Amino acid sequence: MTLRGIRTVVQGQDTSDGAGVRLRRSIGTGALDHLDPFLLFDEFKSDRPGDYIAGFPDHPHRGFETVTYMLAGRMEHRDHSGNRGDLAPGSVQWMTAGRGIIHSEMPQQEDGLMWGFQLWVNLPADRKMTAPRYQDIPPEDVPEVVGEGTRVRILAGRLGEAEGPVRDIVTHPLYLDVRLEPDRQITVPVPAGHNAFVYPFEGEGQVGVGSGSERVVPSGSLAVLNDGDTLQCRSGDSALSFVLLAGEPIGEPIARYGPFVMNTPEEIQQAFADYRNGTLAG
Ligand code: CO
Repeated sequence: MTLRGIRTVVQGQDTSDGAGVRLRRSIGTGALDHLDPFLLFDEFKSDRPGDYIAGFPDHPHRGFETVTYMLAGRMEHRDHSGNRGDLAPGSVQWMTAGRGIIHSEMPQQEDGLMWGFQLWVNLPADRKMTAPRYQDIPPEDVPEVVGEGTRVRILAGRLGEAEGPVRDIVTHPLYLDVRLEPDRQITVPVPAGHNAFVYPFEGEGQVGVGSGSERVVPSGSLAVLNDGDTLQCRSGDSALSFVLLAGEPIGEPIARYGPFVMNTPEEIQQAFADYRNGTLAG
């Protein structure tokens, strides 16, 4: 067993996206451009409608996958070909944009808390122009592993015998939502060689326990992990909630501009041209 420690901790940056949705971005910033295969990681959390009500109106994507995980609140997803999805609390949507989709995500509430995460996961060159695909997972289809003072929701990947409902993703992701009551520790296998990070979103806790490079990581900061096959985390006087992400690195050049992520600048130009002339999606 090789325990994963902490390579670095980056603080999320407050920004806005879509039509003015306020969010905290931890990957896709000057401090952390990407963590192969992860291109972007945002937390949106607000109970002020002005921070989210304008939503994410129609916009395109090509060349990667977008993953939305909702903790609270409700959004509706629609795309250019009439697909609709309900983003309810506890649900996850794994959207493989592939060669192109045009979609919107709009709040289905006028007040109350809106809280969740958006993650972008890259695709390798030979999959960037694949057909779009949705995996819309309702909350009741996400398995939970409950221990003494611990609870893990498995969105993707495995924990022991439990397997997450998101399937057949080329980067073999692990996506866990972990809750520890006060003074609890958890040990989680994480595939060796995969890039991984921990993002606490409630409370704070020790990440990388036993590795020699453990640190207390507060909510809203992202800990990039060293390699290894096991991660240990511990809560302190208060409860700790965090997400743990891991994925197989792709190791290809990244050309990104706005909603397009390809391998070369020429492919980005082509994506813009296709979007302008109406052939990006469909
Ligand atoms: Co989008």
